[in-house]
Amino acid sequence: MFTFHLINESNAHTILNWRYKPSYDLYNYFKEEANQQHILHPQNTFYSIVDENSELVAYCSFGQDGQVTGGDYRDQALDIGMGIRPDLTGRGKDAEYANAVLKFADSLFKPKVFRVTIAAFNKRAIRVWQKLGFEHQQSFERESDGMQFIVLLRADCCNSIR
Ligand SMILES: CC(C)(COP(=O)(O)OP(=O)(O)OC[C@H]1O[C@@H](n2cnc3c(N)ncnc32)[C@H](O)[C@@H]1OP(=O)(O)O)[C@@H](O)C(=O)NCCC(=O)NCCS
Repeated sequence: MFTFHLINESNAHTILNWRYKPSYDLYNYFKEEANQQHILHPQNTFYSIVDENSELVAYCSFGQDGQVTGGDYRDQALDIGMGIRPDLTGRGKDAEYANAVLKFADSLFKPKVFRVTIAAFNKRAIRVWQKLGFEHQQSFERESDGMQFIVLLRADCCNSIR
C-alpha cells in the first residue's frame, strides 16, 4: 500500500510546512534553512512515504534524527522517527504506517534492535509502538530544557516482521 522514497527537496519543503495541533506542535518543523538541511542530511536518512495515489502521507527517519540529547544510545539499535501527515492523524491507522516502516527498515538495515525515543507526554505515539511490541528501556530529561522523554526498544526484529 505504501512506497518509500529517499527524501528530496520538494518533499522536505512540504514536510516543513506540516502543522500538528497543540500539544503535538512539538513535532512541527519551521521553514528555517537548518531544518531543511536536517531533513536532507544523509545521517538522518529521511524517507517519504507515499500512498497508492502517489500522495505524500507520512515520513520516517532512520538514525541520528531519532535521538534526543540526554538519552543513552550506547547500545546498538536502529533509531526510528515517524510522522503521519497532520490531517491523516487520529484515524486509527497508526499501526498500518508503523508496521510498513518497520518492514521497510528491516529490509534496508536488518537491525537486531529497533529503538524509538518519544516525549513522555505523547501517549498516542507511545501506544503506537507498544502495540507493535516495543518495551520501555529508559526515561531521561532532554538536556536543553528538561523535557521528559522515554526510549522504547523492540528486539528480535527480523523474526517477527511480516
Ligand atoms: C504518533 C502518530 C504516528 C500516531 O498515529 P495516529 O494515526 O494519529 O494514532 P491513532 O489515532 O491511531 O492512535 C494511536 C493509539 O493511541 C491511542 N491514543 C490516542 N490519543 C491518546 C492519548 N491522548 N492518550 C493515550 N492514548 C491515546 C489511540 O486510542 C490508539 O490506540 P488504540 O489503537 O489502542 O485505540 C501520529 O499521530 C503522528 O505522526 N504524530 C506526529 C508525530 C509524532 O508524534 N511523532 C512521535 C514519534 S513516532
